[in-house]
Amino acid sequence: MSETTPRPERLPGDLTREQLVDRIIRVDQAGEYGAVRIYEGQLSVLGRTPAGGVIRSMAVKEREHLSKFNELIVERRVRPTAMQPFWHLAGFTLGATTALLGPRAAMACTVAVEEVIDEHYAGQVAKLGDDEGELRDICERYRQDEIDHRDTGLKHGAEQAPGYRALTGAIKAGSRLAIWLSERI
Ligand SMILES: [Fe+2]
Ligand SMILES: [Fe+2]
Repeated sequence: MSETTPRPERLPGDLTREQLVDRIIRVDQAGEYGAVRIYEGQLSVLGRTPAGGVIRSMAVKEREHLSKFNELIVERRVRPTAMQPFWHLAGFTLGATTALLGPRAAMACTVAVEEVIDEHYAGQVAKLGDDEGELRDICERYRQDEIDHRDTGLKHGAEQAPGYRALTGAIKAGSRLAIWLSERI
């Protein structure tokens, strides 16, 4: 880009507004889809146990989030991530595996994922301007829901899960990779 061309709102290598909004909707739809699948995996194992009710109530919110982003994908003509079939399986597997380790490990999974998603939504809210006020409000509202889920996980013994630090560390790394891929692919 020539130095004489004034482009105050955009630096070389930055995304255009349209590309930014595209990425935000694509990755958020993928993330909410993954969240629904994680809870489906957890419920396949813990659905009839005392933890089932708590997990189901979080799953209800994730389905709400997902249906909003499904709408936005259509309205804004965004290409969904090509990773969707993979997230279908990976989300369910992550949910079922953590649930097999016990209800506290399932809660630790929620804490790990929601901590990453809280940062992720906060980053998006900071990037969106008033021209995308509606999308920004959605991201902020959902961020609050995800923070509630994190707190629910903590309240239900997440930190007492065996190997809490290693488990949450691995899940966070996986979640960050999933975000990176779903923004781009
Ligand atoms: Fe969500
Ligand atoms: Fe959530």
